[in-house]
Amino acid sequence: MSWSEFSKVLPQTARVGKTGALEIGEYDMIQLAHDFGTPLFVMDLVEVRDRLRRYRDAFGPANVFYASKVFLTKGFAQIVAEEGVNMECLAGGELYVALTSGFPAERIAVHGNNKSRQELIEALDAGVGSIVVDSFHELDLLRELTAELDKVARIVLRITPGVEAHTHDYLVTGVEDTKFGFTIGETALRAIDLVARTESFELVGLHSHIGSQILDLRPFDEAARKMVQFLAQARRTTALEIPSLTLGGGLGIAYLPTDEAGSIEDLAKVVHEAVASEAEAVNTPAPQVKVEPGRSIVGPSTLTLYTVGTIKDLPNARRYVSVDGGMSDNIRPALYQARYTFLSALRPDEPHDRPCTIAGKLCETGDLLAHDALLPEVEPGEIIACAGTGAYAYAMSSNYNKQPKPAVVAVFGGETRVLARREKYEDLLRLDG
Ligand SMILES: Cc1ncc(COP(=O)(O)O)c(C=O)c1O
Repeated sequence: MSWSEFSKVLPQTARVGKTGALEIGEYDMIQLAHDFGTPLFVMDLVEVRDRLRRYRDAFGPANVFYASKVFLTKGFAQIVAEEGVNMECLAGGELYVALTSGFPAERIAVHGNNKSRQELIEALDAGVGSIVVDSFHELDLLRELTAELDKVARIVLRITPGVEAHTHDYLVTGVEDTKFGFTIGETALRAIDLVARTESFELVGLHSHIGSQILDLRPFDEAARKMVQFLAQARRTTALEIPSLTLGGGLGIAYLPTDEAGSIEDLAKVVHEAVASEAEAVNTPAPQVKVEPGRSIVGPSTLTLYTVGTIKDLPNARRYVSVDGGMSDNIRPALYQARYTFLSALRPDEPHDRPCTIAGKLCETGDLLAHDALLPEVEPGEIIACAGTGAYAYAMSSNYNKQPKPAVVAVFGGETRVLARREKYEDLLRLDG
């Protein structure tokens, strides 16, 4: 692999610097690894802000909700707020972090397929913009709570549209056999009717999310059309306006140079056209289109720096290159065979032609970060980078094998901003009784 291929999976400020090392945000990655240690998540702030702005421009500021499950710290929530994008939070912890960062409650949509009574109280008390409701049980809880607390709940109903997104099984959410939402058709109409008949409820929209890491845009078109048809049916049967349609997140990104991902603008064109033409076909006013992107905002902006340790050349010529992190900082390869591109941060434009398995340091045979990486003849101590780790890596990180969590550092114009500090050994005892 060569630099021109790496640049397809690296953030936009990635360069080969004066020293020959990888540079992001005008910061030398070898220097950064020295300054902050490894493993280290490095976020290109220019890339993140650019992606937030592109979504905002393509869909309109009121219509974009960053899916905070992908990556959330207080500092990152402030960046999302600064860029005028709203936020989607899971009830409970994500909502707490967002509110603690000062994120305006009215710009938050609260999710969760099994929100507890306490979590719903927290959402109502905070005055969140909307609650995305997933089940009849939740509607019952909300009816009780709005009466008890004398509040109105602004409700979005999550519908499973029965659309197959071509992605990993664990990333599919829009088919009928799923734990999420109300099944489109009679079940969902019953839920809408219930909302319509409850005085303390305001139905602000319908929602669907068909899955994640979707590279082919056609399922978005299909889901948008199905949801508009259903919206028209629901408007007819209930006489409710139902002003908006949230079409979830899901846009895929390039993890490998050969991955062809649709752009933010392509996605906007596909769903806007689908919604407008289907609304015309079924003779209903086009609803406001909202989206909840996560991976396609933060995924490509970030890479993980690791230090190479043990290198083993097995008799069958397979080379194992071990790094100082692994499934504790990135569970995705072990969880759903996710693939990544690795490169040397020390000499990114030298030929990378030595096939390697990248092994983590945790005590699991399955703790492998890549099976088919290509690297130069790396040495122990060399810094290597894994591209595209902004989404669902730090957010899913754990302390397995008592690994302290890495730091997350944003870089821009030669400066740094720590979004999460590195855990110390003492942090591993923080919760012990
Ligand atoms: C309801 C909902 N919205 C948005 C997202 C974000 O999806 P993505 O990161 O693929 O954009 C998810 C994640 O799967 C989700 O479950």
